[in-house]
Order: sequence, then C-alpha cells, then structure tokens
Amino acid sequence: MKVIPTVSQFSNAVRSAARPLGLVPTMGFLHAGHMSLVDRARADNATLAASIFVNPAQFGPKEDFATYPRDMESDLAKLEDAGVDLVFTPSLEEMYPEEFDTYVEVSHLTERLEGEARPGHFRGVATVVCKLLAIAWPDRAYFGQKDAQQCLVVKKLNADLNLRAEIVVVPTVREADGLALSSRNSYLDSEERKAATVLYRALSLAQDLGTSNATEIRERIRALIEAEPLAEIDYVSVADAETLDELDEVSGPALVSLAVRIGGTRLIDNVTLEFA
Ligand code: PAJ
Repeated sequence: MKVIPTVSQFSNAVRSAARPLGLVPTMGFLHAGHMSLVDRARADNATLAASIFVNPAQFGPKEDFATYPRDMESDLAKLEDAGVDLVFTPSLEEMYPEEFDTYVEVSHLTERLEGEARPGHFRGVATVVCKLLAIAWPDRAYFGQKDAQQCLVVKKLNADLNLRAEIVVVPTVREADGLALSSRNSYLDSEERKAATVLYRALSLAQDLGTSNATEIRERIRALIEAEPLAEIDYVSVADAETLDELDEVSGPALVSLAVRIGGTRLIDNVTLEFA
C-alpha cells in the first residue's frame, strides 16, 4: 500500500494504475461503516484508492473541526489489511493553498435537512468531493447511505459537472442495537450511548407503522424521541427519496431522516420507506 500526501504524486499514481479504479473518500477514524465501503470497492475494482482528509470547509465555525477524532496510524493499518493500494493523505495546505478561491454549490438539494441545519456544510462537501474526483479520477466512488443527502448531492455534482464517476451507495452499517456507526459516537458517554438507540427505534417505528400518511409518521417519530430525556430533536423528515421534498403521503420511495442531539453530540440517521 502506498501512502501519498501530495496531489501531484497521487494524480501520477492513479494515472498509471490498473483499471477500473475505485475511490473511497473518508475523514478517517475508520470504523466498520467505512470499511464496508472499502470492502465493496475492493470487490468491484482492480485498483483501490482511499483518502483521509478532515475537510475544514464542511465544518461550521461552531462545529467540531478542531476536536474531530483522528487516528492516522490505526486508519492506515486497517486500510492495508483491507487490501487498499493507494491512500491519499493530503495536508490542509495541499488541498486548500493560500490562493484557493473556488467552491462548488449544489443548489436545491442542499436547501433542506443537513443543508438547512448546517449552513455551508454541503458547499464544503461538494467542493472537496469535486477536488477528490478530479485528483483521483476514479471509475467508481463509494459513499454511505448513512449520509443519504450527501449521496444525492455527490450524484448531482458528478452528473452536473460531467465528472463521469459511477457513484456507488453502500448500505448503513449498524451496531447490534441499531445505532448507525459514526466517528462521532466516540463523543457519547455510556448513558448517552444508551439514549442514542432512540434514533433507530424511531426509524424502525416508521417502518413498522404501516401507514403512508407522512404527517402521522413524523408525529409518531417525534413522540417516541421526545420520550427520551437525553434526546433533543433537530429535525424529523419524511421526504421524497430523490428530491428531498417533504411529503404529505408516501406513494413512491421516501427517505425518513432524523437529526437528534444526544447531550452535546448531534447524530443523524435514515431509512427508506416504500408503500406499494
Ligand atoms: P466520513 O464521515 O469519514 O464518512 C466517509 C464515508 O463513510 C461516507 O460516505 C459515509 O457516508 C460513510 N459512512 C459513515 N458511517 C457509515 C455507516 N455506519 N455505514 C455505512 N457507511 C458509513 O462523509 C464524509 O466522511 C465526508 O463528508 C467526505 C465524503 C469524506 C467528504 O469530506
């Protein structure tokens, strides 16, 4: 496995690599969720590349960029074990040199949910993903359904800017009690960790209710989460799975998504719903 910190060396390495080439972009502190993307990409491609870069452009001024968990040594060991060929580990200056002055904005899709709650977040995600696709020039790039809106944003910028990667969406990996794996779960103390199961309990309720009335689904989810004293709802959404427009009635594929604060930690999760 080659670990490459500069844009020029990494671009050169991918240009002489066997095709197809798969790219798994990450911010590191890798867990089994990230590794499921890596395993899927390993199976699909002749060359497997991953990137580790905590992207400051996607964190708000009051968010956790400075304290975001990092463990490069352990990440590299995991990637090596999983059969990764090339790892891109750029510095801040390498990705955003002083003269950097171009940003990518996906408009409509980012107006709601995470985009509304975290102004500027998707501008940062879209910009860095666009750069990573330009630098790594992959045939396929892998993203987790855990960040459903991010997947839609990446698909949109890939199509609109003719970047021509195939965007592959990989299912959410969960703990045994349903909590979606996330680097931010490391912020939870043991009581908060128990309370955090409320997200998946709420999403499972939405699936089990058997109603297509989106207002009722949102209300039942809210009631369940409000019964958990450590949880504070940021949003509960039942939206069209492609456009993210909020629904009255579920008639095609719908995305049920949540953002909930547990203590100081903001967690997101989602499931898709479909009624015949
Ligand atoms: P990060 O949070 O490190 O996640 C990297 C990838 O792993 C994302 O595509 C994310 O959706 C996926 N992932 C995280 N938890 C998962 C889980 N439990 N199951 C399946 N996949 C999971 O998302 C980012 O980084 C950044 O925004 C990035 C795309 C790298 C741009 O900076």
